[in-house]
Amino acid sequence: MALAITLFLFLLISTCKATDPCASVSDGSDLAIDHIYGKCSPFSPPKPASWLDTVLGMASKDPARVTYLSSLTVMKSTVPIASGQQTIQTGNYVLRTKLGTPGQLMFMVMDTSSDNAWVPCTGCAHCSTTLFNPTNSTSYQSLGCNMAQCTQMKGQACTAEAGPCVFNQSYGGDSSFSATLVQDSLTLGVDQIPNYAFGCINAIAGGNIPPQGLLGLSRGPMSLLSQTGPLYQGTFSYCLPSFKSYYFSGSLRLGVAGQPKNIKTTPLLQSPHRPSLYYLNLTGINVGKKPVVFPPELLTFNPTTGAGTIIDSGTVITRFVQPVYAAIRDEYRTRLNGTVSSLGAFDTCFDTSVNPIPPPITLRFTGMDLALPMENTLIHSSSTPLACLAMAEAPNNVNSVLNVIANLQQQNLRILFDLPNSRLGIARELCN
Ligand SMILES: *[C@@H]1O[C@H](CO)[C@@H](O)[C@H](O)[C@H]1NC(C)=O
Ligand SMILES: *[C@@H]1O[C@H](CO)[C@@H](O)[C@H](O)[C@H]1NC(C)=O
Ligand SMILES: *[C@@H]1O[C@H](CO)[C@@H](O)[C@H](O)[C@H]1NC(C)=O
Ligand SMILES: *[C@@H]1O[C@H](CO)[C@@H](O)[C@H](O)[C@H]1NC(C)=O
Repeated sequence: MALAITLFLFLLISTCKATDPCASVSDGSDLAIDHIYGKCSPFSPPKPASWLDTVLGMASKDPARVTYLSSLTVMKSTVPIASGQQTIQTGNYVLRTKLGTPGQLMFMVMDTSSDNAWVPCTGCAHCSTTLFNPTNSTSYQSLGCNMAQCTQMKGQACTAEAGPCVFNQSYGGDSSFSATLVQDSLTLGVDQIPNYAFGCINAIAGGNIPPQGLLGLSRGPMSLLSQTGPLYQGTFSYCLPSFKSYYFSGSLRLGVAGQPKNIKTTPLLQSPHRPSLYYLNLTGINVGKKPVVFPPELLTFNPTTGAGTIIDSGTVITRFVQPVYAAIRDEYRTRLNGTVSSLGAFDTCFDTSVNPIPPPITLRFTGMDLALPMENTLIHSSSTPLACLAMAEAPNNVNSVLNVIANLQQQNLRILFDLPNSRLGIARELCN
């Protein structure tokens, strides 16, 4: 009987999903999170490559992303701007948002390491076709150089008090945009946020600007958390969809209500050198039960230099500084049978038919061990019995030690950012 009910419910759920798997919009303050190349994203390619190839393509952009993250210092960023269109975006997840009155639907990239929000606006040079049209919104206002918000914008070049607040920022390592600071109503699920300040993009250069804009969830003074104050009380959590399929959606839950109560946590740290980023105190890494051996200072958090470990929504596979990664990889390889091969960014791929029990990896943080589920450790080929360790070394042009906990390692986990209590929580959750 119980089985029959379970089966019935399963069929019922699958039938609902079959009608429109992308219809699940929002539930209270929960917003659907989709892979940018997932089925429910408008950026899903008409003839998709294999999902493994898509992930490989996305991971190939990580070095540019990590270089970009390391450039987010209080000093002026000096990221070189490359020209030319690239097809793979560094923003990995999109949120359905509405801007203006009446609301115009925009699929904005969610980025936990960005301060601001920005969208391409009507008249934008080199932008895609979906643009926010300010003239159609009754609540739109542009913000001048004399406004307090303008002084918070990086890359702002105001000369006259009276002029519009125009700024130029780099993004993703090889792209830039020029925008005017404006404000309008932002709708996230059931929440309407009046007078939200964001950049209205006039022109882009390079191929890495998210086509329908970006919503920054970092700590910066212009981020969603800072602009919403008491509404979300500096609290949000997300569950990123599984990398197994492009049909899956995750969720972003904004505010204190509905957040998990019993959750393991570790302190969230902040560096005045890179004030926007979410730093964690990673103290060690285990392969199987064995702690990997490397000089401990390679993980040490240093607020002054910004060295340490961050958690990021826009990097695909976790990156460790070279000696740390080499130690993990060498330890991992000693457990494997048969030959090891490389595939794109992955240098430790193996035959799963002779390695039925690959060793688990545990990330040890202050107060919290995260034993990575197997799917958060490996990426599997669907056609051959091949799996690869889904981690790599950080690019060596980064001028200070920066380890990045990336999104493949975060899938199917609820990650809670609790800024008032300076802590980050992680709990297992099937988010699809
Ligand atoms: C938005 O504005 C443009 C011109 O600025 C107009 O062509 C279009 O019909 C408007 N759309 C709506 C929904 O009002
Ligand atoms: C932003 O500024 C840089 C440096 O001056 C410039 O190369 C780039 O073209 C600008 N971007 C846009 C979109 O105007
Ligand atoms: C990080 O963890 C190490 C080892 O437990 C500890 O000595 C250090 O004080 C911690 N750092 C911070 C900033 O919490
Ligand atoms: C390697 O092969 C041995 C013997 O068949 C097996 O016990 C072990 O679990 C294998 N290693 C992995 C990583 O699966």
